[in-house]
Amino acid sequence: MKLLSVASEIFPLIKTGGLADVTGALPAALEKLGVQTRTVLPGYSQVLDKCPKAKLVAEFANIGGHAVSILGAKVAGLDLLIVKAPGLFERDGGPYADLNGADYGDNWRRFSVFAKAAAMIATGALKGYKPDVVHCHDWQAALTPAYLRFGTEPAPPSVMTIHNIAFQGQFAAQVFGELGLPASAWSFDGVEYYGSVGFLKGGLQAADAITTVSPTYAREIRNAEFGMGLEGLINARAGVVSGIVNGIDTDVWNPETDPALATGFATRTSARRSGNRKAVAKHFGLKPGDGLLVAIVTRLTWQKGMDLLAEAVDGIVANGASLAILGSGDKGLENALQQAAQRHPGRVAIQVGYDEPLAHLMQGGCDAILVPSRFEPCGLTQLCALRYGCVPIVARTGGLADTVIDANMAGLAAGIATGFHLGPLSARAIVEGVADAAAVKRDGKAWARMVKNGMTTDVTWQASAERYRNLFQDLIDRQAKA
Ligand code: ADP
Ligand code: GLC
Repeated sequence: MKLLSVASEIFPLIKTGGLADVTGALPAALEKLGVQTRTVLPGYSQVLDKCPKAKLVAEFANIGGHAVSILGAKVAGLDLLIVKAPGLFERDGGPYADLNGADYGDNWRRFSVFAKAAAMIATGALKGYKPDVVHCHDWQAALTPAYLRFGTEPAPPSVMTIHNIAFQGQFAAQVFGELGLPASAWSFDGVEYYGSVGFLKGGLQAADAITTVSPTYAREIRNAEFGMGLEGLINARAGVVSGIVNGIDTDVWNPETDPALATGFATRTSARRSGNRKAVAKHFGLKPGDGLLVAIVTRLTWQKGMDLLAEAVDGIVANGASLAILGSGDKGLENALQQAAQRHPGRVAIQVGYDEPLAHLMQGGCDAILVPSRFEPCGLTQLCALRYGCVPIVARTGGLADTVIDANMAGLAAGIATGFHLGPLSARAIVEGVADAAAVKRDGKAWARMVKNGMTTDVTWQASAERYRNLFQDLIDRQAKA
């Protein structure tokens, strides 16, 4: 099976969040099942720098007013098709925003050209290559199914995966005329969305199947609270919506061989974690003693509940726990957490920034990790934590609810618990959840059982890759019959 994946980020080339981890790891898992993935990716400067051997494979004189070339490259086991359009993608700053964090004003142009190039590849623009199925990720890739659907050429079936429905790619109605779509696409069935242009909306309407990254999130987005305006569409298309939970790359996240750890340890025994605990305490200048040492590794945003964490800090410390925080994002939240650290020297510390090795060390050394998200399509940090013997304390939402077994009475009695679910989310629920975890840790035996359960939980991609493969096959078979 030949799969064309369309994604605006991919690990290890360019990453702002878990999306990149997913698009970077899924190809290898699918490969084992006989699916060959090629990934279409924008030619950001950061990507071109890392692909010096990329070769020209096609040229398009004009897409949306830009000359576009497609470069082929094989990097880190990934088969990439890079959409090179210097005026659109070769900029200082990140993939979506400038150095000050402001979204680029022409993101609609950047990602419509990108999606159009992907659609042209999908319908055979590269000599000798025609994919059987197309897999599009998030709003940046969402116009691809729309171009395929409103185009004139026979097109392979497409799947639209929602990693976060909060980001929809919504733009002023005026841009519609610039997208190169026929007038019929300005409709309920196309990209029209409450009087403006909705990229994600158009993709969800046009794709043959919709997936999101956990079964619980697939249910949640049917309600207004989580659907963010798209709940009506999701309900109308419920028959083609499913949730497939993410896995992690267990070669990158392997505590036996991880170079970022002070002391490695086997996946079935956590005995040597204490060396990492000491290293984390030293790095952050913390003195956790016998209390619970809790990690936070996250984007500092409202989605992740970081405002509630800032409110909960004093209560957490009063109950005897310590906090090591690694994250960056919202400046107001960074300040609030920095102030909390100043109030509690030796017990609360924050490192602002993005630091992959430190994230690994924290997972391998902290006793628990706190993930108090308001919504969480899947979440990857709790999966890494399970594998590294770091007990997750999570909000009961989305993929967090699906991947962590709560230490409630039944879970503890059956010996199957792997972490803690917070009560209805509030600062107080966070304080109480951390206190509950500390109480179980004092009962050494029950805690050791939870750590072991977590470390032996299947967090690999295998089962989910099979689900994707089966979905792709099903769409291919149905199209062949039609
Ligand atoms: P999201 O994509 O919503 O940010 P996920 O949990 O799916 O959340 O993925 C986040 C990924 O980024 C994980 O791999 C996590 O370890 C990593 N991460 C987030 N913040 C940081 C940070 N400050 N330093 C290092 N890694 C981080
Ligand atoms: C998004 C979601 C996160 C998910 C990730 C990868 O960033 O916020 O929950 O794990 O995508 O699917």
